[in-house]
Amino acid sequence: MSEAKENAALAALDFVEDGMTLGLGSGSTAEIFIEHLGEKVAGGLKIQGVPTSQATAECAKENGVPLVDIDKVSKIHLTIDGADEVDPVFSLIKGGGACLLREKIVAHASERMIVIVDNSKVVETLGAFPLPVEVDPFGVALTAEAIFEALQKSGCKNGQTVLRQAKDGSGPLITDGGHYIVDCKCEIIPDPGATAHLLEQIPGVIEHGLFIDLSSIVIVGEDDHARVMELKRE
Ligand code: A5P
Repeated sequence: MSEAKENAALAALDFVEDGMTLGLGSGSTAEIFIEHLGEKVAGGLKIQGVPTSQATAECAKENGVPLVDIDKVSKIHLTIDGADEVDPVFSLIKGGGACLLREKIVAHASERMIVIVDNSKVVETLGAFPLPVEVDPFGVALTAEAIFEALQKSGCKNGQTVLRQAKDGSGPLITDGGHYIVDCKCEIIPDPGATAHLLEQIPGVIEHGLFIDLSSIVIVGEDDHARVMELKRE
């Protein structure tokens, strides 16, 4: 598995050019990419990174990758990020690491997004991985009920919601932005666009982990190579 992540991360380096401002994704695959990016920077590559989480910012600092404040950049040329699931038209589930809000802000602001995954993340239909939804802590039970209804209405097979807990047992997990995460056991999301639209109507929902039409290149790492897949968008 880690060989596959490594191969995907290495293949993504080919898309990085001198002078770029890069969106730096979150999660274990993105961190492997950042480690290799740090080696290139040590070798003279001039780039600056916009981190999508506090963990990524720390990883970048440890690996000598220069960072820039998102409010100080006029353009993000390319974002490289991982994903929890990728379907045939490059719709994604993201947020397994609870960073989906900043990941989506950065991906949306980027000229191009490249997704790096190992082959276990490639699926025919999204939904086996629980869909993370970032919500305001106020009224979380009511928001979770509304999320369940939205998932049912958009044809998801299940929709059971679980409030994600912090690993240290201190209570609900708090995101970098100060919100909670509701994980939704959809099983199958037959129409990601419809689900996304309904979730966006719920006042307590800050953002959801469906990334639609954001990525045009997906790099799938295998044990001994990487496959670069490109989708031409109109
Ligand atoms: C972080 O919130 C996520 O969106 C990650 O990008 C996703 O969970 C993939 O992580 P791994 O690369 O660790 O599988």
